[in-house]
Amino acid sequence: MSIFSNAISFHFLFLVIFTTTTYGTIFKIQNNCAETVWAAAIPGGGRQLEPRQSWIINLKPNKPQTGQIWARTNCSFSKSGHGTCDSGDCNGGLQCQSAQSNGTSPYTLVEYSLNQNNNIEDFVNLSFANGFNIEIDISPVGIFESGQSESRVISYYMIVFCPKELREGNNATTARHFIIQNQCPYTVWAAAIPGGGQQLNSGQSWTLNVGPGTTGGRIWGRTNCSFDASGRRGCETGDCGGILRCQRYGTPPNTLAEFALNQFNNMDFYDISLVDGFNIPMDFIPLTSTCKNLECSADINGKCPNELRALGGCNNPCTVFKTNDYCCTNGQGSCAPTNFSRFFKERCPDAYSYPQDDATSTLTCTTGGNYRVVFCP
Ligand SMILES: *[C@@H]1O[C@H](CO)[C@@H](O)[C@H](O)[C@H]1NC(C)=O
Ligand SMILES: *[C@@H]1O[C@H](CO)[C@@H](O)[C@H](O)[C@H]1NC(C)=O
Ligand SMILES: *[C@@H]1O[C@H](CO)[C@@H](O)[C@H](O)[C@H]1NC(C)=O
Ligand SMILES: *[C@@H]1O[C@H](CO)[C@@H](O)[C@H](O)[C@H]1NC(C)=O
Ligand SMILES: *[C@@H]1O[C@H](CO)[C@@H](O)[C@H](O)[C@H]1NC(C)=O
Ligand SMILES: *[C@@H]1O[C@H](CO)[C@@H](O)[C@H](O)[C@H]1NC(C)=O
Repeated sequence: MSIFSNAISFHFLFLVIFTTTTYGTIFKIQNNCAETVWAAAIPGGGRQLEPRQSWIINLKPNKPQTGQIWARTNCSFSKSGHGTCDSGDCNGGLQCQSAQSNGTSPYTLVEYSLNQNNNIEDFVNLSFANGFNIEIDISPVGIFESGQSESRVISYYMIVFCPKELREGNNATTARHFIIQNQCPYTVWAAAIPGGGQQLNSGQSWTLNVGPGTTGGRIWGRTNCSFDASGRRGCETGDCGGILRCQRYGTPPNTLAEFALNQFNNMDFYDISLVDGFNIPMDFIPLTSTCKNLECSADINGKCPNELRALGGCNNPCTVFKTNDYCCTNGQGSCAPTNFSRFFKERCPDAYSYPQDDATSTLTCTTGGNYRVVFCP
């Protein structure tokens, strides 16, 4: 977003289709200025940021919350955190408690109101009411849902100071590679958000480039598809609205590889999820030796309980029965393992088996690296 008026409002509406229980918001503040800046945030305090450094503010409001973020320039602080800044000063403290700038305007201000209107909308504004000191870019990176249940919804914003200055050579611009391999004896139409989709005959692979900071990332395989010359028609499992290059998540049952890159402490979050059921055996392998490989290659379709059987796959009980105990809708119901979720967990201990199966199923890893997703490992 560039500066083209006196106030820019960013209005982010969550399209939460299923259930939501808890909410969080992450602001990643990145200093791309050639000089040191002192970020200020209420709530949050303050942080000195050298060029290319970033600071993550992790809010867990679960209710409406307002706040402010801005940059201070040319500061000098004592060890105890007292001093002054040329612009954006907050009463001489490194930690800002209130936004009073005591005449040291001008400063560019980010103002936000989160979880408005029953937790479905955020407003993030860029304001020039106090003048301008540095250029600021605001971009909503996405909404990260833990599991498929949306039992935790985290909205994620990137705030970049001086977006144009240190653009090249910045690590935050390096794409990650996801190598998607089809080792099934049959054709799989790979699907990826972000990324689209591609037909993979047996033995073929597709290398997908994904931007750093991507959240809500998802890769899955579709079976028995047929597309016409314009890329339309559909698939038996994992279909995304009848198009080859997916722009939305797929229809259950589909085994999922889910990821969010460069999160807290620059770690990646990744998991295999059966919360949307199972269609194809899958491995999800970080190509960084210290990170755990995830495997789900058991014969789930063959042993699928009768109630859950579906064309080409095995459904999750929430999809079939739609009850709170299985879906954990709004945190209601037991939200605990069920006899059906145990069926999945026994066969794929690495994978999410029910909506709140976080503890054993989401892995974090500092990789900065690439991943491999294998169908029929
Ligand atoms: C800023 O956001 C608030 C909601 O927090 C909204 O009511 C207001 O209109 C926005 N201001 C501008 C100038 O866009
Ligand atoms: C900091 O102060 C120096 C010296 O007055 C000035 O040249 C520089 O532009 C200032 N930096 C910022 C970011 O305002
Ligand atoms: C800054 O503003 C606060 C609140 O208005 C005031 O208490 C304080 O004395 C001011 N400091 C200076 C140095 O003017
Ligand atoms: C990129 O990241 C690596 C590892 O985090 C770091 O050592 C290196 O200095 C960074 N490069 C730039 C240009 O920031
Ligand atoms: C595709 O459909 C055919 C005919 O219904 C079926 O025999 C086959 O198992 C399906 N293939 C996959 C990969 O599901
Ligand atoms: C799970 O429990 C339900 C109800 O008690 C029963 O109908 C179903 O057969 C059980 N499923 C499995 C896989 O044990």
